[in-house]
Amino acid sequence: MKELYVNAPAKINLALKVDGLRDDGYHEIKTIFQSISLADRIKLKKRSGGIVVKNSKVELPTDEENLAYQAAEIFFAENNVDGGVEVYIQKNIPIAAGLAGGSTDAAAVLRALYDLYELEYNYSKLRSLLVEIGSDVPFCLEGGTVYAQGRGEILEFLPFIGEKDLLIVTPQLCISTPKIYSLYDKMKGNNTFNFEKLLKNIKKDENINWNLDYKNDLEAPAKKICQDIKDVKNIIKKTAAEFYLMSGSGPTVFAVYNNRSAAEKVAARWPRKNDFVTVVKTIDRY
Ligand code: C5P
Repeated sequence: MKELYVNAPAKINLALKVDGLRDDGYHEIKTIFQSISLADRIKLKKRSGGIVVKNSKVELPTDEENLAYQAAEIFFAENNVDGGVEVYIQKNIPIAAGLAGGSTDAAAVLRALYDLYELEYNYSKLRSLLVEIGSDVPFCLEGGTVYAQGRGEILEFLPFIGEKDLLIVTPQLCISTPKIYSLYDKMKGNNTFNFEKLLKNIKKDENINWNLDYKNDLEAPAKKICQDIKDVKNIIKKTAAEFYLMSGSGPTVFAVYNNRSAAEKVAARWPRKNDFVTVVKTIDRY
């Protein structure tokens, strides 16, 4: 096998609770990750040596800063193989948007390299390698509906919430995750929403009760530096959305509709011309 194509799906956070700052500088969080059908498409090709990363978006780094590059470095450091790889990433997921775009590329590249070089692996080994790249990278290895704790790397697989139709809206600006967390610390918000209720709901494989007002604790700090999040939510509020929330550290907002055509109607009439707008589905573990 000389070349390989893989998909790297994005994620949203159905809720995110911050439980304080840890000694290592990270925040203790509780979140529910959910994979979605929006995905990058990645091609990997063997080379005689060295790592080359190319992608379809010029603003993305192609060196050690690129998380997919880091995943390839880890692969070659970990395995005594004679060779290299050329990676081409067709970016469909918006960058620095709260959708784990870079993280999912890294997870997909690491797994694909084991396949390309026909080496054996197991997921728990890959997850322990991926956590070096970022907190939400281990989740991206298999995706699905997952309860995550710690800095986001302690995972518990949950029953799939089923195929939901979602509108995804990403205002055109990049948000820095560390900046949002440090602003959260300064704001000291009170997180009173019922995370446990949502978790129980999903664990019991019940239909999610969207009326319980699940929150993302990072939304208040993100809104502080990005008025667009408020504007996007105000537009969605006037539609038939069952639920809507900012994902990750933002600025993407997702909205749940009870059928695809309702979501598509909102997308077709979306009034803010510079936003990235798409209709997707939640997807199960891959
Ligand atoms: O783990 P990752 O590299 O994605 O995190 C980027 C930054 O976001 C961290 O350096 C940290 O500042 C912040 N972060 C955090 N708590 C988490 C996850 C990320 O403070 N649980």
